[in-house]
Amino acid sequence: MSDPLFDFTDRVAVVTGGMGKLGRAYACALAERGARVAVVDTIADAPAGDAAFVAHLAAGRVAAFPADITDRGALEQAVDAVTAAWGVPHILVNNAAIDAPPDAPLSENGPFETYPAESLDRILDVNVKGAVHCCQVVGGRMARAGRGAIVNISSIYGLLSPVQDIYGYRRRGGEDFYKPVGYSVSKSAILNLTRYLATYWARAGVRVNTLTLAGVFDDQHPEFLKAYCERMPLGRMARREEAVGPLLFLVSDAASYVTGANLVADGGWTAW
Ligand SMILES: NC(=O)c1ccc[n+]([C@@H]2O[C@H](COP(=O)([O-])OP(=O)(O)OC[C@H]3O[C@@H](n4cnc5c(N)ncnc54)[C@H](O)[C@@H]3O)[C@@H](O)[C@H]2O)c1
Repeated sequence: MSDPLFDFTDRVAVVTGGMGKLGRAYACALAERGARVAVVDTIADAPAGDAAFVAHLAAGRVAAFPADITDRGALEQAVDAVTAAWGVPHILVNNAAIDAPPDAPLSENGPFETYPAESLDRILDVNVKGAVHCCQVVGGRMARAGRGAIVNISSIYGLLSPVQDIYGYRRRGGEDFYKPVGYSVSKSAILNLTRYLATYWARAGVRVNTLTLAGVFDDQHPEFLKAYCERMPLGRMARREEAVGPLLFLVSDAASYVTGANLVADGGWTAW
């Protein structure tokens, strides 16, 4: 028996960064519960190997509306196309983001004092300005329609400082490696984007919440995994499916009185 609180039949969802690891999981979960899901990503084609996601694309419950969220005009066009096809979205998952990958040049993953301004610009452009654009373009339509639910995705690194000791194996190996500041400040900005919009649109029927996640297992370096999991109360990284339940709750009718909140699904990382 399907639970009406978690029934998304005929709801329209926009998932930014929906071609990525977590975005595909959100898109599949929403489609499986009846939603139509528009994937807004710079990548137009599904990555090979995710059979469930490819099946939803083939069945038309999930469709790609490619756009770069830093480009407001391109985003407007994509959301116009979603609205023409399915109607004004009910759900926005602001999930697209970038980070400096661990194999980025050391100029980017080096000491704070020399962190390049261009790297900061690039990260803030996608993670903050892109999220603001999506709220303006999708959230604005929701507010005019008098309903909607937005979830902005943040990270434990937006709530707390990265524990630089976890990356100590890189420094012991001779690299001047530090987890850089750009991602952290971008993910902190998300917390108050949520609070700002939760009050701004409260009477317009649009709920806005943050989902804060910890690291998801993705075959990271064994020394990173060891140090990270020792620090993590649950003793392991998250599986990508473990982000889905909290996301579904926040966008569902079960959360009808939840707005301006930050749901922290982090294995206990921020509890000590
Ligand atoms: N994976 C983790 O360990 C983790 C932990 C905490 C929080 N998060 C957050 O979860 C979200 C998704 O992470 P992920 O691991 O699935 O990342 P990912 O890199 O697998 O996916 C991100 C997607 O965003 C898209 N994207 C990037 N820039 C874009 C732009 N300008 N316009 C449109 N699309 C763009 C990429 O093409 C990609 O498909 C991010 O917000 C991330 O910060 C992830």
